[in-house]
Amino acid sequence: MNICIIGTGYVGLVTGTVFADLGNEVICVDADAEKISALQGGKVPIYEPGLEEMIHRNVADNRLSFTTSMKKGVEPSNLIFIAVGTPTKPSGEPDLSQVKAVAREIAEHISAYKIIVNKSTVPVGTGDLVRQIINRHKKSDTDFDVVSNPEFLREGSAIADTLAPDRIVIGAPNHKVAVKFLELYASLERPMLITDVYSAEMIKYASNAFLATKISFINVIANLCEKAGADVTSVIKGMGYDKRIGFQFLQAGLGYGGSCFPKDTEALVCTAGKYGVDFKLLEGVIKINTNRVPHFVGRMKEVLGDIQGKVIALLGLAFKPDTDDMREAKSIELIELLLQQGAEIKAYDPAAMNNSRKILPQITYCSSAYEAADKTDALVVVTEWREFKLLNLERIKETMKSPVIFDGRNIYDPTVMYRQGFSYHGVGR
Ligand code: UGA
Repeated sequence: MNICIIGTGYVGLVTGTVFADLGNEVICVDADAEKISALQGGKVPIYEPGLEEMIHRNVADNRLSFTTSMKKGVEPSNLIFIAVGTPTKPSGEPDLSQVKAVAREIAEHISAYKIIVNKSTVPVGTGDLVRQIINRHKKSDTDFDVVSNPEFLREGSAIADTLAPDRIVIGAPNHKVAVKFLELYASLERPMLITDVYSAEMIKYASNAFLATKISFINVIANLCEKAGADVTSVIKGMGYDKRIGFQFLQAGLGYGGSCFPKDTEALVCTAGKYGVDFKLLEGVIKINTNRVPHFVGRMKEVLGDIQGKVIALLGLAFKPDTDDMREAKSIELIELLLQQGAEIKAYDPAAMNNSRKILPQITYCSSAYEAADKTDALVVVTEWREFKLLNLERIKETMKSPVIFDGRNIYDPTVMYRQGFSYHGVGR
C-alpha cells in the first residue's frame, strides 16, 4: 500500500518504518526541515533500539522516504496517518492545534479517495473534528474516511511492540475501511479489534489511564509497606501470580513519567469533567504520582539529615531505560528539589545526557556510574538501566565518601547490599 505518515516523532517514525519493512511504500512528512534533512542524510533524531538499522535498510530498498512537502506525501498515498504531537495545555486538555492544521493541509491536497487515520492520542470526537475540517477545506468533491487506529508502542521497545502488539485496534466508520486495515496488518498475525471510531479513541486513553492507575496503586502500597515493615517487592510477587492482576506495571518506584501517562491521565480527567462524569479515582492517581519525588526526598532526609552541601550521585536521567527521552522524567523533579535544598549533583545516564544538558545545565555530567559515585555522600538510582544492575558495587563503595544508596527503582537486593556494607534504602521495603 502507499502510505503517508505525517509527523516524525516516536510514533510516526517507528510506525512508518515498520510499515515500510512490511513491504509498503511509505513517505514520512514533517514540517521540521532540519529533522527531515537529517533523516534524508541517514541521521535518526531519537535513540530507539533497532530503529536506525531498520530505517537505513528500508531507505536503501526505496520503500521509505522523507519530505517536508504535504503535497508529495498526500497525493500518491491511499492511507494518510496523522501522528503529530498533542501536548497538554495549561488546563490539562490536549492541544489539538497540530492535528487541526494537518487536517486543513490534507484537505488542500486530496483529489481522490483517501483514508485519513488518527494515530496520535486524541480525545473522543477528534475523528469527527478531522472529518469536519477536511470537508470544510477540501478543494474537490472527493470522498474520504476517517479512522482511529491508536498506537500502543512503548519507548525503548518501540520496534518490537509495533511488530508484535498485544492487539491492534481499528476504529472504522464502515466495513470497506475495516477490511483495508485488516489487510494492512494481516502479516503481523496479531489479534485485531474492529470498533466504532469513538470506542477506539476511548480505548487508548482508558488503557494508559489504567496502567498509570496500577503504578500509583502499587506506589501507595509501597508507602504503606515502608510504615508497616513489609517489602513491596514480595507483595508484588504475591499479587502478580494472580493472573487477574499480573506482574506488569506493578513496579513501585519514583512514579511514572514520559510523554504519555502524565499527559493522557490529565486529558482523561478533562474529558470526564466535560461530560460531567466523576473521575476522582484518576485524579487520585495523578496526585499520588505528583507526590512520589517529594516523598522520596523526605526519606533521603531522614537518612542524610540536612541535604545542604551534600554531594549526590544520580544514576539515570531518562524517564525510563533504553531511551534518551527526558520528557516528564522523574530525574528533573528530583534534581530540582535536591538543588533547591543545597545539594551538589553528579549525574550519569547511558543515553540521555545530551538532552539533559539542555534542561539541567547546572549539574555535573559524568562519563560513567563510577565517576558519578566518586567522593559522594549518597547515590540515587533514578532509572533502571540494565548496566546499573551489573555495576561493581565494591568499587562504587570504595570511591564514595559514605556508602549510602537510595534505590528509586528497587534494582538491588537489600540483603546483598547490607552484606556489602551499604546503607541501602529502596522504595517500599
Ligand atoms: C506508554 C504505554 O505503555 C504505551 O502502551 C503507549 O503506547 C505509550 O505510553 C503512548 O501512549 O504513546 P511509554 O510512555 O513509552 O508507553 O513507557 P512505559 O513503559 O509505559 O513507562 C511509562 C512510565 O511508567 C515510565 O516512567 C516508567 O518508569 C513508569 N513505570 C512503568 C513504573 O513506574 N512502574 C511500572 O511498573 C511500569
